[in-house]
Amino acid sequence: MERPSAAAADDRVVVRNVLGPRDRHAELARDVRDGLTGPVKEIPPKYFYDARGSDLFERITAQPEYYPTRAETEILELHAADFVSDVGAHVLVEYGSGSSTKTRLLLDAMHAQGTLEGYAPVDVSEDAVHAAADLLVSEYPELQVVIVVADFDAPLDLSFAGRPRLIAFLGSTIGNFTPEAARRFMVCVAEELEPGDGFLIGFDLVKDARELEAAYDDAAGVTAAFNLNLLSVLNRELHADFDERTFRHRAFYDAGRARIEMHLVSEIAQSVRIADLDLEVRFEAGESIRTELSHKYTPESARGLLEAGGLRIRRWETDGSARFAVALAERR
Ligand SMILES: C[S@@+](CC[C@H](N)C(=O)[O-])C[C@H]1O[C@@H](n2cnc3c(N)ncnc32)[C@H](O)[C@@H]1O
Repeated sequence: MERPSAAAADDRVVVRNVLGPRDRHAELARDVRDGLTGPVKEIPPKYFYDARGSDLFERITAQPEYYPTRAETEILELHAADFVSDVGAHVLVEYGSGSSTKTRLLLDAMHAQGTLEGYAPVDVSEDAVHAAADLLVSEYPELQVVIVVADFDAPLDLSFAGRPRLIAFLGSTIGNFTPEAARRFMVCVAEELEPGDGFLIGFDLVKDARELEAAYDDAAGVTAAFNLNLLSVLNRELHADFDERTFRHRAFYDAGRARIEMHLVSEIAQSVRIADLDLEVRFEAGESIRTELSHKYTPESARGLLEAGGLRIRRWETDGSARFAVALAERR
């Protein structure tokens, strides 16, 4: 379903809403029921991103401990022109685009090379992506935007087929996937790529546990607020009665699995009612809900993942401190 964006009041922004509000409620209900009644309590991270969650994520990216955004920006500042010209891209498609802030570096490079035509952000957070698109069309007079409000976990028919596309997946969001889901995702991406398209992906690299844990537990408490906001999403969307004051944020690095885990820990023994699911969930004191995995990669594991999906690396760039990498890949 395609319609012009009312908010944009501009016919250069079109919205493809793959999921309607009812589908979204049904999916949240299913995920929360499955997640809170299984042996390990867990909720997928895509539900963090209501309007407040998206704002809090933006604030996380500005925290002194949260190096990934600065490191990835450094790489794009230096290499965006190479990434774009290697592909001869006319269109940028971006999974999990959020506020599209770093995206500008790629759009600027396409604009400077005189090839810029289109941008297709793909995100579940409709509010964030609309606001970003409205700003972008005012800044780039030649730009057509197709907003795709969708879950990138499912295969998607991406926009602007037939034109040379750079398909980007920044922010190390790939880290949120389990290794198996990450491989499935790569296979879907490879199927979407047409000959000549490029795939640009950001990987957060394995490093010292203290630096990693600080990035997910900043001193100002913004990541804690972001994590706890998930409970407000459940209270609002599913009429649950979580009391945020009885849960606390916890983040730790599991070196064996090379991943950060974020949890919400119940400080007391309690039962929570989720009215829309007609479900009572019991928590012991100290029991937690796992809310995010963030896998860290080595150059070898990143290459292995891309190759498992049928992709090959064309260019690999890291920031000056080798904390983060951006790979440009193509179909083999
Ligand atoms: C970690 S943020 C990264 C935002 C931005 N790309 C950056 O690098 O700063 C993840 C983004 O992906 C979106 N997202 C998370 N899970 C998603 C899913 N399953 N399908 C579509 N979008 C998703 C969120 O709404 C959010 O905008």
